[in-house]
Amino acid sequence: MRGMEWNGREIRILDQTRLPRREVWLTLSTTAQIARAITGMRIRGAPALGIIGAYGVAQAALRSKAKTTLGVFRDAEKAGAVLAFTRPTAVNLAWAINRTLDAGRAVVESADRDAIVKTLAEEANFIAEEDARACDAIARVGQEFVVPGARVLTHCNTGLLCTGGSGTALGVIRLAHESGKDIKVLATETRPLLQGARLTAWELGTLGVPHALIPDSAGPALLSRGEVDVVIVGADRIAANGDVANKIGTYSLALAAREAGVPFVVAAPVSTIDLAVPSGDLIPVEERSPDEVLSVLGTRVAPVGTGAVNPAFDVTPARFVTAIVTERGVVRPPFAESLRALVQPSS
Ligand code: MRU
Repeated sequence: MRGMEWNGREIRILDQTRLPRREVWLTLSTTAQIARAITGMRIRGAPALGIIGAYGVAQAALRSKAKTTLGVFRDAEKAGAVLAFTRPTAVNLAWAINRTLDAGRAVVESADRDAIVKTLAEEANFIAEEDARACDAIARVGQEFVVPGARVLTHCNTGLLCTGGSGTALGVIRLAHESGKDIKVLATETRPLLQGARLTAWELGTLGVPHALIPDSAGPALLSRGEVDVVIVGADRIAANGDVANKIGTYSLALAAREAGVPFVVAAPVSTIDLAVPSGDLIPVEERSPDEVLSVLGTRVAPVGTGAVNPAFDVTPARFVTAIVTERGVVRPPFAESLRALVQPSS
């Protein structure tokens, strides 16, 4: 099961706004269509944003009408510039676009038109394949945090829909279930867009993982009542000091986990770590439309005239994070040192 496909010409995505009621596949043929799909949350989640950004760059080169190799590459760069800013918090998006363009830049002087397109497409495919392998490794590495019979609380959606593989936090959960650990998952609804209720519950149900949905506001109470053994979440960007940007509501879970003495674990690929950003206060946090808060699934619930504030992410300070699980291993405090050693092992 996959949430995105690229056949070398067109990108197809499973429209996440329609799930779980309908499984609708969309074909994206232009940069504008990709950009609209991203801003409209039809595809979402940090690793998946990176993969579609890379595919978008390759597709722009493929569709370019420019006569020269340099012209084709310039069109790819223009697509990258548009897509990189569609969602600002998930660093994977700009990272994957830059990596794909860097691969093209390295050959643009010597390549012909077909070769530059091939180079960009290959790099995009590498990024997707690497992410799939990273998910498998994260799932294995994360097992040390899931004891048999564990009650695992997770937030938002971090599974196959938003990665190139089985997921990050949800990949850890899935492998724990498949290993017979007899776990139970508490999945938050994840207001305002209900990624937990619509997507995580759908993925867990499809996989046969025992789970219960909880209102976001119940997470801290269940932690305080001793009904959670571990919190495992994903990340959109991890700063050099270990501060973690993730879906709004993550911070309150981290606070409550600390108060309850429950491990708070972040599962993310190395591509989500941004050493260029020293601390979480410098991570750009996306503000989305007030309409998402004022409505539920498109139906207005607040009285006319009500305003709303809609930060899509929050930043959990590193001091509340027990460990970060990556495909290269587990990182623990002090994160400034351990993250640098993980990302740049030779420096
Ligand atoms: O706004 P979203 O749905 O894109 O937010 C997604 C998250 O916050 C996920 O936890 C994160 O991207 C990790 S996905 C493996």
